[in-house]
This record gives sequence, structure tokens and C-alpha cells, in this order.
Amino acid sequence: MNATLDILRTQFSAALVAAFGDDFAHTDPLVFIASDPQFGDYQCNLGLSLAKKLKQKPQDIAQTLINHLDLGEAYETPEIAKQGFINLRLKPSYLEQQVAQLQCDPRLGMAAVDEPQTVIVDFSSPNIAKEMHVGHLRSTIIGDAIARILEFRGHQVLRLNHVGDWGTQFGMLITYLQEAYPEALIKANALELGDLVAFYKQAKKRFDEDEEFKETSRQAVVKLQSGDETSYKAWQLLCEQSRQEFQVIYDWLDIRLTERGESFYNDLLPDVVQDLDNLGLLEENEGASCVFLDGFTNKEGDPLPLIVKKSDGGYNYATTDLAALQYRIKEDGGDRLIYVTDAGQANHFAQVFQVAQRAGWLPDSVEVIHVPFGLVQGEDGKKLKTREGETVRLRDLLEEALRRARQDLDQRLIAEERTETEEFKHNVAQVVGLSAVKYADLSQNRTSNYRFSYDKMLSLKGNTAPYLLYAYVRVQGISRQGEIDLENLPPEAKVKLTETTELALARLLLKMNDIVAQVEQDLLPNRLCSYLFEVSQKFNQFYDQCPVLKAEEPQKTSRLVLANLTAKTLKLGLSLLGISVLERM
Ligand code: ARG
Repeated sequence: MNATLDILRTQFSAALVAAFGDDFAHTDPLVFIASDPQFGDYQCNLGLSLAKKLKQKPQDIAQTLINHLDLGEAYETPEIAKQGFINLRLKPSYLEQQVAQLQCDPRLGMAAVDEPQTVIVDFSSPNIAKEMHVGHLRSTIIGDAIARILEFRGHQVLRLNHVGDWGTQFGMLITYLQEAYPEALIKANALELGDLVAFYKQAKKRFDEDEEFKETSRQAVVKLQSGDETSYKAWQLLCEQSRQEFQVIYDWLDIRLTERGESFYNDLLPDVVQDLDNLGLLEENEGASCVFLDGFTNKEGDPLPLIVKKSDGGYNYATTDLAALQYRIKEDGGDRLIYVTDAGQANHFAQVFQVAQRAGWLPDSVEVIHVPFGLVQGEDGKKLKTREGETVRLRDLLEEALRRARQDLDQRLIAEERTETEEFKHNVAQVVGLSAVKYADLSQNRTSNYRFSYDKMLSLKGNTAPYLLYAYVRVQGISRQGEIDLENLPPEAKVKLTETTELALARLLLKMNDIVAQVEQDLLPNRLCSYLFEVSQKFNQFYDQCPVLKAEEPQKTSRLVLANLTAKTLKLGLSLLGISVLERM
């Protein structure tokens, strides 16, 4: 059995009950990964936390727990430290046996969860005919990583793109389409609007300056909503055009998504409002139908309303999210609903969740989570803009990352006096550039704002994608240099760990499961990044200190196994972040 935090918690819970009785069956066993390797691998803090309640010294409680603890073979005898901390250290023999075993397992010893859930991850979700901006890029990258991690844990994940494809702006867009591109509606596929964002701006200009245009637009919304065929076709054309633009970004970033935009829920909206009314939750306020919220107040301290039907009879973003929430629970069977958007929408989701809760649409077994993230800023700490002060187009942003990755590579090749084929250079720049953008985003705690810097993200030093990719490449280099197929190291190869750097690396490699399990819970992919960064650092320390190819047998094979497990850990870990590795760079 693998030694992991989860198993250790179960073991401590059992000891707690055995030592102090059933009252403690639901007490958190307070076992964590040790903050500092000098304390071992794991620590338990029950001694101090129960001292008051049990009226005993922390050290005595710790000792009683240890007496009742059944840890199996993996650990040294537990030590009691200051304040009754219990320190647990994995035995070198256990590390050796695990390293040898894990390198042969494609999942590196990480089993899928026993009870898989249906998880809905709502991410990316740009708006039709509008710019897909850096906020959507963050949502796309973070949402994809979360989805990949949950999939790896064995959950059934539905990746939903809640595209903004409905709403009053379509009246204006359709009217403008009919006016400026009348032929588009006849030859359905022949639409070449070019830049849809420019199209949006032109339409908005017409809307703002021409009363008649405005009126036609209003009617167009009504027509579209009542199923008029021409309006519907125009709407479809606009959506298709945007879709193609979004897809370019998704293809580059290797993102899979199921589009289920706002329009999908359109027919369900009247029932949402009707149901709220039947439940007695609905109130009229200045002509709009709304639910007054608990805990959300205006300056005067009065409860704020969540509008679900506007005074003109139209529905809004919140109504759609209420319908979507119901649908995701009832029709999709979602156990966990995750929404990845900027922190600015935190109130929106808290309000929607509250109304769903009060309406009884949220069973206890279902968890709804808003996963917020901070703003993307330029290097100056201000909102990310182009030199001309415009919003940055995602396509340009990614292209720039690729261009700079290529430039760096070309310089490095000259410095190293290497010649490589164009195909090699293109591929390396592509992988490095895109990984750098993804990793820079993921390695930040997502709740804080993040400064976008090409120089930092492409640097070979520090917590960056290139640094991690390079550690992987180093292992592959060993294999090439020694002409050794790492995939086919003898399965019976013995691992013997003697040097400090070897032991430290091995200890860390066995913690991957703990980290992934943690991210499954708190949805903070930066934990996995920090972990992989540390693995790369510990590997580099090991590699600097310990000869591998020049070592004598059996040490040589033992070190090859350790290096191989490092590479596999990096490759798998990066794949969970949506990043692929390179064999050479
Ligand atoms: N389209 C929205 C925006 O661009 C994001 C949608 C997020 N998902 C949701 N279910 N509301 O801000």
C-alpha cells in the first residue's frame, strides 16, 4: 500500500478513536506534509490541539496516540517533538522499494478515487462577436488544468463553454448584418466579416447614432426570440464566425470544450421565474421581478435584489445561470459544479447560489463552487494593453510568445554552436512559447492578480515552464548519452539511496499523489506547479552531486531509475497542467 496523506489520516483517526473513544470519530486528525524536511515527511498536530479538551500534556497525548497507531512498514518509529508534534519519516528501504515500483506504473502509483463524481467545469466562456480577452485566457488555462486533474482522479468531467451567445446585443448585430452584408444571408456559408470585433464596433456606432436603427434592433431581438427564420439564420452566422475565431485559440492551446451557450437555456427561463414566484420568493421592484438577497445590502443597509426578469420582460445573465444550474444538476447529474471566472463575478455567483439554495434546487449532496481568479496586468502593474492602448488580442499575445521563444532559442543555439533543422526549431519554439504562457498563469495563486511578462515566463531560471522542461530534457540527455532506454530498465532493478540529494529527491517524488489530491479539493493548480518546480530543483541538485553514467553498478542503474521516475513525474505532472514535454530543446 502507498504511504500517502490520505492513508495516514485514516490511520491517525483510528488511533484517536482507539485511544480516546468514539467522541473523536469525527475529529480532524490534523496530519500534514511536513513543512520542513528536518521534521520528516509528515506531521500530526493532535497533541497540542486536544490538550485543553483532554486536560493532558500535548506530549502525553502524542505518546498515547503513537501507542495506538498502526502504521505498517513504511515509517521509522514516530518521534515526538516540541509541543507534542508527531514527526513521521519514511524509511529509506520503503523509499527504495517505492521508487523501483512506481517507475513501472504509468499512473505512478496514483489510483483513481473510489467514488467518482460527475463534475461540471464551466470555463473559458467568451462572448459572441466580442473580443476573447486575457480574462477568458486565464479561465481557459485554469479551467482546463482543473478539468485534467479531476479527469485524472477518475471523475466524469463535463467541460462546458457557457458562451455568451444570447441577449439584446444580437438585435443590433443582426440589424447591422442585414444592412451591411445583405448577401451573407442568401449565401449562408460565404460570410467573411473579417474582424468581428470591428463589426461589433460598427454596429454599436450605428445603434448609438440612428434612432430608426435602434428601433429595428429592438424588433430584431423580439423576432429572434420568437423564432423568426431570417433572424435565426443571421444569429447562427454570427455565432459560427465567432466560433471559428475561438477555435483557433483552443487548437493552439489544445483545449477541449463542449459548447453550451446561454441560448441553450432560453426555453427554460420562463419556468425559472415562474418557479420562484410559486415558491413565494419573487417580488416586484421598479417593474422588474427579483429576489431580495440575504446578506447583500446597499449603502443604506437595505437588501439588494437579484433581478431575474427585467422591466421590459427580458431575462438576464442571472436567470440564465439559474436555469443552467438546475439543468446541470437535474439533467447532467452533476455532483460538483465549478465555475471558473474572474473574481469580479464573485457576487454574481454567490447570489445565484443563494437563490438556488433558498429555492430548494441545491441538494445537500451537490457542491457549487465559484473558482475566482485575479486580473492580468502588464509589467507596469496596470491593465494589460498594447502600446497603442488597445486591449491585447489573444492571437497576437500567443504569437508574440512564440516569436520570443524562437528568438531565445536561436540565440541559445548560436551560443552553444548547435545546428538544428527548421522543424526542430519550430517545434521547440511552439512548445516552449505556449507552455510558458500557460505555466506563468497556473503557477500563480489564481486568486491574486498576475503580471504578464514575456521575459519572466520564458526565462530558463526560476519557476518557469522552460526550467521544468529543461529538467526533463536533462534526463533524456542522460539516456541518449549513455545509449540507455529508460523505458526498458530491468523491472527487478534495485534502488539503493545513500546520498542526501538522492533521498531528498525520492521523498519528494512519493508526494505527487498527495499534491494531486489536494488540488482536487482546493482547485489551486499552483500547488502542482510549486511541486513540479521543487522536483526539478531537487533533481538538478541530485544530478550536480551524484554521477549517474559514471557511477559503478549497482549504483548506476539505481540512479537511472531515480532519474527516470523524475522524468515521468514531470511529464505526467505537466500533462495535468495541459503542457507537453520535449525530448530535446
Ligand atoms: N460569458 C461570461 C463572461 O465573459 C462568462 C460566463 C461564465 N459562466 C457562467 N455560467 N456564468 O464574463
